[in-house]
Amino acid sequence: MDDSPFLKLCRARRSVRRFADRPVEREKIELCLEAARRAPSADNLQPWRFIVFDEPEKKTKLAEAVFNGVYAASKKFAAAPVLVCLVIKENLLVSKVAGVVQGTQWQLVDAGIGGEHFVLAAAEQGLGTCWIGWYDGRALLKHLGLRGKGYRAVALIAVGYPTDDASTTERPRKNLGEIAFWNSPPR
Ligand SMILES: Cc1cc2nc3c(=O)[nH]c(=O)nc-3n(C[C@H](O)[C@H](O)[C@H](O)COP(=O)(O)O)c2cc1C
Repeated sequence: MDDSPFLKLCRARRSVRRFADRPVEREKIELCLEAARRAPSADNLQPWRFIVFDEPEKKTKLAEAVFNGVYAASKKFAAAPVLVCLVIKENLLVSKVAGVVQGTQWQLVDAGIGGEHFVLAAAEQGLGTCWIGWYDGRALLKHLGLRGKGYRAVALIAVGYPTDDASTTERPRKNLGEIAFWNSPPR
C-alpha cells in the first residue's frame, strides 16, 4: 500500500514521554486546537473542552494535583512543556438517552475524536504528544473548579518537542486481518 502524506503521518506518530527543555510556540498549540475544533461529534454537540497549561507554575500545580498516590507513575509528565486537560461538558439529555437506549457514551467518543485530531495536528508540526489516561480525574475537576458543574474528565495530553533520545520504537500493531473484516464479522 502506497503511503499517502496522511498515512505517513500516522505511521510516524509515536507517544512521546521525554520532552526537550524548549517551550512550545502558542501558534502551534492553536493550530492543534483548530484541528480539534473541526472534528465531528454526535449531533454536532462538540462537548470537548481543552484547557491548556503552558505557564510552568500553573502546570506544576496541576501535575501535583493529578499525578498523586496510585497515579504517581505519571509524574514524569509534569516535565512536559504543555499539559492539556481534555474534559467534556455533558449534555445530560443526550448522555442519558443514548446511555439508556444504546449503552454508548457518545460524548466520550467525541472527546476521543477531538483529542486525536489535536494529537495528529501536533505530530504534523513536529511536536510529540502522549495521551495520559493514568491520572486522578476527580482531582482534576476539583483543581479546575469544575466539580458539580456538569463536566467530566476524559484525559490529559502531554505536548512538547521530543528529546533526541525519546524512544522512536514502533509499538506493535495487530495485522489488518485481525482488526478489519470485509462483508463478514470476526470469527
Ligand atoms: C486513551 C489513552 C490513554 C493513555 N494513557 C497513557 C498513560 O497514562 N501513560 C502512558 O505512558 N501512555 C498512555 N497512553 C499511550 C499508549 O500507551 C500508546 O498510545 C500505545 O502504547 C501505542 O503506542 P504509540 O502511541 O507510540 O503508537 C495512552 C493512550 C491512549 C489512547
